[in-house]
Amino acid sequence: MTSPAEGITPDASNAGSNDGSAVRRPVVLLTRRLPEAVEARASRDYTAILNPSDAALDGAAIARRAAGADAVLCCAGDRLDAAAIAALPAAVKVLATFSVGTDHIDLDAARARGLTVTNTPDVLTDATADIALLLILGAARRASEGERMIRADSWTGWTPTQLMGTHLGGKRLGIVGMGRIGQAVARRARAFGMTIHYSNRKRLPPELEEGAIHHADPEAMLAVCDVLSLHFPATAETRHWLNAERIEKLPPGAILINTARGSVVDDTAVIDALRRGRLAAAGLDVFENEPKLNPGYRGLANTFLLPHLGSATVETRNAMGFRALDNIDAVLAGRPAPDRVV
Ligand code: DGY
Repeated sequence: MTSPAEGITPDASNAGSNDGSAVRRPVVLLTRRLPEAVEARASRDYTAILNPSDAALDGAAIARRAAGADAVLCCAGDRLDAAAIAALPAAVKVLATFSVGTDHIDLDAARARGLTVTNTPDVLTDATADIALLLILGAARRASEGERMIRADSWTGWTPTQLMGTHLGGKRLGIVGMGRIGQAVARRARAFGMTIHYSNRKRLPPELEEGAIHHADPEAMLAVCDVLSLHFPATAETRHWLNAERIEKLPPGAILINTARGSVVDDTAVIDALRRGRLAAAGLDVFENEPKLNPGYRGLANTFLLPHLGSATVETRNAMGFRALDNIDAVLAGRPAPDRVV
């Protein structure tokens, strides 16, 4: 594969200026191991502090490793709470997260400290929408059960009634949060013959709506969601948005899809509804308290579970890394960050 950084050997040394005096290269901390092309570009342009073992670091360890850094490239899962942000060296000007989600960062603390925070929108839209469709198909067509049967060598052969799932054509997909990813999921689901309903704070213009039916109130939409897919950010307000009360508003046997963040659903209520068959199935790529998800999900036959793979393609992860570096480049050069969140 060709990358912008191909052929460039990572070099953490200080470059010389034209008059022979040493010029300090800005220092960038990469909190996790990143794709090779991204680390190569970071090392080409900066003195990069890498994490070759990919050990997960807590906020205090990130702050310690950032000693001497001008920028930190962090990732989803790095807990950058108020204490960690306060502990970052004063020289750190920008926290560029390798994610579109920013729920792992205390944005108020960053704002108060005058730290620029950036994210990586757009570049992971298609990959995440693809995974949402994989979850819809996997949950509706009982892919986990079939796969387990093959692996356990318990398949006794084709039968007319074996693992019958739900046909997607003609079913209603309800999307809560019709941003870039929600719209990309809608486009894909139309190809399977699904009717699209959505709820979004702002109604989309007709060219983006493409016939999707808008519901100003997400509560009112729940009754028509044969499949419900969540695409809104995790905040204090959206924590456990899908709770027992809202599940009861869905049609019996609805399918739940979550590629947003685990904390937007109440696991206890979802697991109970899956056990009772009130929800027919769930396709989940994200979980509260990852990676220590509620163990109740594992024992259920009607769950199709993935380990937060939404953006996990080589092309997308490279693009996310380059986008994060574009933001660092801008801030360290005194330009406005293209994807500034704070
Ligand atoms: C994001 O970008 O927020 C994803 O969840 C990580 O791929």
